[in-house]
Amino acid sequence: MREAMAAAVVGDDVLDGDPTVGELESEAAAWLGKPGALFVPSGTMANQVALGAWTEPGNEIVVSRWAHVTTFEAGAAGCLHGLQSITLGDADGGMDPEAVREALRPDFIHCPRTGLVCLEQTHNYAGGRVLPLPMVRGVGAVAREAGVPVHLDGARLANAVIASGVGASEWCDPADSVSLCLSKGLGAPVGSVIAGDEEFLERARLIRKRLGGWMRQAGVLAAAGLIALREGVERLALDHDLAQQLAQRLGELEGLSTDPASVDTNIVMVGVEREGWSAPQLAEALGERGVGVMPMGHKLRFVTHLGVGPEDVDHLLTSAGDLLQ
Ligand SMILES: Cc1ncc(COP(=O)(O)O)c(C=O)c1O
Repeated sequence: MREAMAAAVVGDDVLDGDPTVGELESEAAAWLGKPGALFVPSGTMANQVALGAWTEPGNEIVVSRWAHVTTFEAGAAGCLHGLQSITLGDADGGMDPEAVREALRPDFIHCPRTGLVCLEQTHNYAGGRVLPLPMVRGVGAVAREAGVPVHLDGARLANAVIASGVGASEWCDPADSVSLCLSKGLGAPVGSVIAGDEEFLERARLIRKRLGGWMRQAGVLAAAGLIALREGVERLALDHDLAQQLAQRLGELEGLSTDPASVDTNIVMVGVEREGWSAPQLAEALGERGVGVMPMGHKLRFVTHLGVGPEDVDHLLTSAGDLLQ
């Protein structure tokens, strides 16, 4: 990947185009089954470009509970686009299509207009759960019937593709725009794409410009993104297998709880139930032993990726066992 970055043919994407960025945008759009895509620096920017492109200030968006767009983007939906949100759904990150139907606002001067419905696949806070395809289609159908666009935050869509065997374009079909992170599990250092049809992309280009996300000789980054897309997807199966092993073995330790059946992809949420230990305390102690893990509420969030292997899970098990004995 570093070699491809060094060898990348570049141009000025803000002036007359960068060929490698163009290649990445075309390949990503084809993979997602959308007419076009734009390269942006991050998943957060991809989502915020979509929110800004679909809505007007004063609109409301309907999103899943603990969705990244409303929970982990520092209030950008309100701050940048003047949006408020209704959050719906279950601990697995899903939304019942009928609940979405009820949440859509009537055309009434006293109400905000519903500007967008957002889904997240896989769902980060729910522990990398794969939303069921009928639910995604059901939400898409309800929104379409009401004339409301759907954005799919597909930061980890590739994980859903590998875990489910359902192709990316099938997952994206119910959505009008899709974001995909080339970093995270796919392994690029930087970059995401936001995809949709030409009418959407025209507005999205303007929002990307306003956010400062239109990059000049970005081919060096796009070259990494191309490798991520071409070589990163299939190998996610290894991360998913490792996450299963991690969940099963860690759950056998007294004081920790996991539910391997709920580990669909590469994220493992682990409950800390040992007296004298909170999740942040255990995360810190593991960090001192070289294990990087993020505390989330009362849980620890472990992620497997191309930077870790079975020997790292062994090291984690030994470290956690020592600490909790
Ligand atoms: C579901 C989801 N969407 C978007 C993002 C944002 O990606 P980035 O951190 O690259 O801005 C993340 C990051 O973890 C995420 O989990």
